[in-house]
Amino acid sequence: MPTRMRLTDINLLEVLSSPEYARYLKEFREQRFSKKAILFSPNDEKNLVFLVKSGKIRVYLAYEDKEFTLSILEAGDIYSTHTRAFTQAMEDTTILVTDVRNFKKIIAEFPAFGLNMVNVLGDLLKNSITIINGLVFKDTHLRLAEFLVQAAKDRGVTVEQGIKLELGLTTEEIALVLGATRQTVSVLLNDLRKSGILEKLSRRTILIKDLKRLQEISSGF
Ligand code: HEM
Repeated sequence: MPTRMRLTDINLLEVLSSPEYARYLKEFREQRFSKKAILFSPNDEKNLVFLVKSGKIRVYLAYEDKEFTLSILEAGDIYSTHTRAFTQAMEDTTILVTDVRNFKKIIAEFPAFGLNMVNVLGDLLKNSITIINGLVFKDTHLRLAEFLVQAAKDRGVTVEQGIKLELGLTTEEIALVLGATRQTVSVLLNDLRKSGILEKLSRRTILIKDLKRLQEISSGF
């Protein structure tokens, strides 16, 4: 996943450990989770806010056999337990948990906490839009991924960062091949770029950075 745009580089963990925040920090409880553990699920009905102290947490929606990752939280990120998403530790993880009421007081006094929320929610929104596009343009999404995987196999050149692929076709021509509109193909190509799966090198050349993910998409995952 590409690095998230940051509105603030302030380290909230450092902020909280400074003397002026001591009274807030004492209201945070530390909780540890081992790799793969589910931190919170939508049915918990808890209303807490937590700050990631160490480790990594995946925020995802799960429906039957499908999962959609909305965001990956890292040290210093804030999240809450009142959303419809599951949270799962991707490695051994420690969080600092407080109730929403205490968190409201902190935000009111220190804007960096609010900016951090905007970063986290912005990332969640970005991935949600990509997921919506993928679902709305499901068939084209699948066919575009299949087309790129096949083209990578046929004439991709392995380079250090992935597979360099001379498409030899414009977006309009790819759309014709897939039986879609040019607009749909550019939306989907842009989503693949935003998800860090590929990069555009020039008008007709791309770099596939994550062939495995592209293969998964082409087989419907
Ligand atoms: C001052 C603390 C907070 C308050 C008072 C607050 C309040 C609320 C309220 C009232 C809702 C609507 C709930 C509903 O429709 O049932 C909501 C939804 C939501 N909040 Fe918060 N929130 C807080 C902190 C946070 C934080 C820190 C995050 C994440 C960074 C967050 C993320 C969300 C999300 C993603 C939803 C949509 C949930 C869904 O529909 O699945 N909130 N919040």
